[in-house]
Amino acid sequence: MPATTSVTLNTGAIMPTGRSWHSGSPSPAKSNMPVEFALKNGYTHIDTAAGYQNETEVGQGIKASGVPREQIFLTTKLDNPDQRHPEKALEASLKKLDTPYLDLWLMHWPAPMTRDGKPDMGHDWLNTWKTMEDLHLAHPEKLKAIGVSNFSVEYFERLLKVARVVPAVNQIELHPSCPQDDVVEYCQNKGIVLTAYSPLGSDNSPLLKNETVTKIAAKYGVQPANVLISLHANKPMHTVLPKSVTNERILNNAKIIDLTPGEIGELHDIDKTHHFRACHPSWTGFGGLGFPDCK
Ligand code: A2P
Repeated sequence: MPATTSVTLNTGAIMPTGRSWHSGSPSPAKSNMPVEFALKNGYTHIDTAAGYQNETEVGQGIKASGVPREQIFLTTKLDNPDQRHPEKALEASLKKLDTPYLDLWLMHWPAPMTRDGKPDMGHDWLNTWKTMEDLHLAHPEKLKAIGVSNFSVEYFERLLKVARVVPAVNQIELHPSCPQDDVVEYCQNKGIVLTAYSPLGSDNSPLLKNETVTKIAAKYGVQPANVLISLHANKPMHTVLPKSVTNERILNNAKIIDLTPGEIGELHDIDKTHHFRACHPSWTGFGGLGFPDCK
């Protein structure tokens, strides 16, 4: 299939596939400049998180771009230490982003934490989801969609047993060295859109020099990054969030190419010999969070 430019969420809303700017962690863009630049150059999705501590700068970048709010898909995430107080956290994010509504609000990790960065064993992330559902159902104009991030099949099975709202999105690490076929297939079957974070394999990624990636890039006359970003746009129900604070790369990363099924297969095979995760879930103190490669 040709690369998509958007996907439809289970709410009926349209979410852009590419042209999506990810503010990212651990190198948060403490400046409004990349957001302003990306929006002025055709980006339509801005993804941030309370945990990146740059929602204020992102809000300033949106205003400075002059692009009307309704032309932007804006995502932010509930931080782990805010899981006991989602309502307060939502208001704080809206205020910092200086926006009356979010297009998408994600539970950043199924891992409640204390302010000093320890696991909060006394709080269940399932209760956080129930409050997120209440907020969405009570204020759909303010919280257009809710979703999750870093959810494995094991965690989804617990969530979907009781969910009143099926998450619209699961944002996870996805690239040829971390394809996560099990959770991808599970989400696709449940109508949950996948958003790939770290599609390049994060900072100093070996994927940018991988011979399969560079061979395909040479064939199409694009950078290796374009192959890695395009991979997701060539899959159903996927969106993709490359991270860059460099203007030249922001411009470059908007270019999406069509890949053949053979090329998608070749990229997929990289994981067999070069598996890695840029962000291992164990940093949360909750172990592997149900991901089979983290057990
Ligand atoms: P920078 O922000 O200096 O442009 P990921 O999206 O997988 O997390 O990867 C982010 C990393 O990849 C950042 O270090 C970013 O650096 C770098 N990067 C972004 N776009 C490109 C590109 N087109 N070519 C090479 N590196 C890139």
